Amino acid sequence: MDKLTVRDLCVKGKRVFVRVDFNVPLSGEAITDDTRIRAAIPTIQDLLGRGARVILASHLGRPKGEVVPSMSLGPVRARLSELLGKDVAFVGESIGPNVEAAIAKLEDGQVLLLENVRFHKGEEKNDIELAKQFAALADLYVNDAFGAAHRAHATTEGIARFLPAAAGFLMEKEISVMGDALSDPKRPFTAIIGGAKVSDKIKVIENLLEKVDRLLIGGGMANTFLMAEGYELGKSLVEADQLDTARKLLQQAEDSGKALLLPVDLVVAEQFAADAPNRVTDLRGVKPQEMALDIGPETRRQYTEAISTSQTVIWNGPMGVFEMDAFAHGTNAVAQAVAEVKGTTIIGGGDSVAAIEKAGLAYRMTHISTGGGASLEFLEGRKLPGVEALSPKDGGNR
Ligand code: 3PG
Repeated sequence: MDKLTVRDLCVKGKRVFVRVDFNVPLSGEAITDDTRIRAAIPTIQDLLGRGARVILASHLGRPKGEVVPSMSLGPVRARLSELLGKDVAFVGESIGPNVEAAIAKLEDGQVLLLENVRFHKGEEKNDIELAKQFAALADLYVNDAFGAAHRAHATTEGIARFLPAAAGFLMEKEISVMGDALSDPKRPFTAIIGGAKVSDKIKVIENLLEKVDRLLIGGGMANTFLMAEGYELGKSLVEADQLDTARKLLQQAEDSGKALLLPVDLVVAEQFAADAPNRVTDLRGVKPQEMALDIGPETRRQYTEAISTSQTVIWNGPMGVFEMDAFAHGTNAVAQAVAEVKGTTIIGGGDSVAAIEKAGLAYRMTHISTGGGASLEFLEGRKLPGVEALSPKDGGNR
């Protein structure tokens, strides 16, 4: 990576403002998935171990500049403290005299968690005065919030203009694993793209088609491609306004000689319900009252074969309604096939992460991205403002 990283910083006795992505799902005050907190631990431990005074900042949810108590980072403090095995101080604000006083009390190797930075309107507007106020709290800035790197906000972009700004270990790993796969993959390189809508992932498909050898499409978005090829799909989810886009993408694949695989059979039902009676059909057999809810067994076989003969695999988006067991077979088959790949396997955020975890196969992947929107934008080939804003490699203070 051509940016400064936390390794390039001399941090002993320094106040280090660390932007993390602790935007975790909560049920009341209970954290239902602490993956993002665990993912930030190596950077925090490293800084504390080297005698830094660590100031942690994050957003949680979308409070839109208001103080919303249910979006407080308070519940994160306890879990973080358990994971670090040490006390984490917490201040119920993120700028102002109370924050300054709490930072002044920090000793080397101690850590303070600030309140949700999105309680300030200026955060999402990347207000430069607010960014300066954040910067004034610290000597150094570290961004480990890959999940928010696609946002140009005061704590992800603006602040980096006023302090030496380095990537944390998580940020570095996300960028390098995904970046290497896109720029210099071991081949065959296969991408699996699923999820409900083509419109969410047009740019990802366009960009990946230039780089991969094979692209496998599943989930609701496959219906739009199939309809573009002339199949009748009953009540299936189809984006009628994306048929031309689907045709263009199919043409792009053909022109570039890339294998774009679509389902050859489907699991269909008359209702969108976990207990709806279902059956397997080929593409010509979908009745007007039926909808496609998963890829069928022959598609599973073809996709498994394409995946298992790959050296690099990127997966984003489920193959069907995997939350319902009856329609999870396609997604589970893909998860199993990806788990068995000998080369590099990357799960690009969002629902596919939940699917891999549900299948108990997360530990067999090379990398599971902590970013949803951020990994999609990265796979689209876009520059992420939170990464662009970091200091160049030679800007360290060692
Ligand atoms: C995410 O959950 O994808 C990140 O934390 C970013 O959140 P946002 O979409 O609200 O900016």
